[in-house]
Amino acid sequence: MTALPRTPSFRLDGRRALVTGASSGIGLAAAAALAEAGAHVHLVARRPAELETLRDALRASGAQADATALDITDLAATAAMVAAHGPFDILVNSAGLARHAPALDTTPEDYDAAMNLNLRAAYFLTREVARGLIAAGKPGSLINISSQMGHVGGPDRAVYCANKHALEGMTKAMALEWAAHGIRVNTLCPTFIRTPLAEQTLKNPERKAWILSKIKLGRVGEVEDLMGPITFLASDAAALITGTHLIVDGGWTAE
Ligand SMILES: NC(=O)c1ccc[n+]([C@@H]2O[C@H](COP(=O)([O-])OP(=O)(O)OC[C@H]3O[C@@H](n4cnc5c(N)ncnc54)[C@H](OP(=O)(O)O)[C@@H]3O)[C@@H](O)[C@H]2O)c1
Repeated sequence: MTALPRTPSFRLDGRRALVTGASSGIGLAAAAALAEAGAHVHLVARRPAELETLRDALRASGAQADATALDITDLAATAAMVAAHGPFDILVNSAGLARHAPALDTTPEDYDAAMNLNLRAAYFLTREVARGLIAAGKPGSLINISSQMGHVGGPDRAVYCANKHALEGMTKAMALEWAAHGIRVNTLCPTFIRTPLAEQTLKNPERKAWILSKIKLGRVGEVEDLMGPITFLASDAAALITGTHLIVDGGWTAE
């Protein structure tokens, strides 16, 4: 009998995952997906009540979950949290914000807020999680939630595109630095996904028509569309994937 190759496991039993932005949208779904695959999830966002509700729901489903209310733009507090609760085998960094405006109208305050969370906090958080893994001599999978807007431009999105394109570059460079430690670093790049962050844009009929004309599969994304891709990137099934991006955009960027 020929010995057949076996698909590497998509399971995450015994792994510890840190998920930021876990109180809402994509981060919440990421936490649920990783927990469903067997990981112990540590939930982070600023709002404690939302985190506790999710933590309790995950525990009730039989998963292992903890939560820390934290503003990840506080770099010292974030580093202390990672040192206290890590090392984390998996990071899904989904904390993010959008303040869309025409480039001519962008205020320095909105520029700073978006860059501070979407890029600066992501940079130092990813670094601290890698530091913990390297100290423990463990491999890992670090996933930054970027966007299709990390690969193309979009209206009123000069700042958002700037920080997501930068996140792509940061991810590639970190992947090169930490590959020797077995630490993989990738981005997941969604199209428009129905979450509180996208709500305003999706309510605008002109924008909605534009979005549906660009998503060739003909519908806006749901958080469930990202749960398989996140689990895949976190798992041994993606063992040779690093320094790159997985675009989940219904064909938007194919055009
Ligand atoms: N939805 C889309 O269409 C879409 C498309 C492409 C990419 N993305 C990206 O996906 C990520 C998640 O977006 P989403 O749609 O899930 O948005 P969302 O529902 O608004 O969730 C954003 C999350 O970030 C957390 N957060 C915000 N500021 C924080 C801070 N300073 N420290 C810690 N946590 C903070 C929020 O929790 P608290 O308020 O409790 O802190 C919340 O859990 C973002 O990076 C976004 O750019 C979204």
